Amino acid sequence: MGRVFVAGSINMDVVATADRHPRVGETVAGRQVLYFPGGKGANQAVAASRLGARTTLIGGLGKDSFGTELKAFLGDQGIDLGYVSETSAAHTGTAIITVAEADNTIVVIPGTNALVGADDVSVVPLLRGDVAVSQFEIPLPTIAAFFRRARSTQATTLLNPAPAQTFGRDLLELVDILVLNETELGYLAGVDLSEDDEPARIMDVARRLRAREEQTICVTLGKRGVLALAGREEIAVPGRVVKAVDTTGAGDCFVGALAAQLADGATLPTALTFANAAASISVQRMGAGPSMPTATEVAAIVNAG
Ligand code: RIB
Ligand code: NA
Repeated sequence: MGRVFVAGSINMDVVATADRHPRVGETVAGRQVLYFPGGKGANQAVAASRLGARTTLIGGLGKDSFGTELKAFLGDQGIDLGYVSETSAAHTGTAIITVAEADNTIVVIPGTNALVGADDVSVVPLLRGDVAVSQFEIPLPTIAAFFRRARSTQATTLLNPAPAQTFGRDLLELVDILVLNETELGYLAGVDLSEDDEPARIMDVARRLRAREEQTICVTLGKRGVLALAGREEIAVPGRVVKAVDTTGAGDCFVGALAAQLADGATLPTALTFANAAASISVQRMGAGPSMPTATEVAAIVNAG
C-alpha cells in the first residue's frame, strides 16, 4: 500500500460567521469568531490520514502560538510532521474567512508557507506507488521540484491548482492527475465556465487543457458531483444532496480522499465515488481540517448508495 505525501500550506483559519456577507465598505454584525486548523495542504493531509493513508506533510510553521496549536492538531491526526520546518523568519500562515449562508470568502496571508522551498521537498523519501500531492499556496518552483522528485521515483503526482493562478506548461507536464473545480478549469483554459454548464462542454474544455493524453483531469462540480477524463475514458459521479453548513475545505477533502484511495490501489471510479462522498460529509460540519471524515463514516454512506 502506497503512502501520501502532501507538500503544501498550513494555516490557522480565523472564521467569522454572519447571517450574510458584508458588501464592500459595509459592516455587518457577526455571530461568532472561531479558530480552525486549515490551509489547503494541511487539510488534504488531514483527510488522507483520517481516511487511513500513511501520510506525510511537507510545509512550514512559524514559532508562534498558531504554529504550536497547528502542530499539536496535525500530530493528533497521525500525520508524519518530520518535514514540517519551524522558523521565526515569518508568522504562521493565516486565513481570514467569513462564512455566511454556508458560503465563504477568504483572504490568505501566506507567512511561512511562502518560505517552503525546493530544499524542503528534494529529500522526501517517495517510492513507486506513493502519491505526491500539492496545491497553489506554496511557491510554484517548490511544487515543480517536488513533482520532479516524485517522477524520478515513479510516484504519482496530483496537483490541485487552487487558488487558481496561471502556471507554465513545464509544471503541467509534471502532473499525472489534475483536480480542480469548474471555475478553476475555466480560468486556466481562458473560457467562462459555471456550474450550469453542460458536462459535455466541461469535458471538452478539460480535454483541451490536458498536456498529454495519459493525464487524468478531475473536475469537481460541488453538489453536481464530479466529472473525470482519464485517457479516452470519461467518468461521471453524481452529486449527493446534503445540507451544507460550511463548504470551506470541501475541495481539500476531495483531494485528500482521492489521494488516499489511489495510494491504496483503488480504481479511479471507486476512488472518485469515495472522495465525492467524503466531501459531502465535510460540508455538513464547520471548519476545514476538523470537518474531514473517517473511512468508517465514508464507507457507511457509500454502501448505503
Ligand atoms: O481550501 C480551504 C483553505 O483555503 C482554508 O482552510 C484556508 O486556510 C485557505 O487556505
Ligand atoms: Na467543512
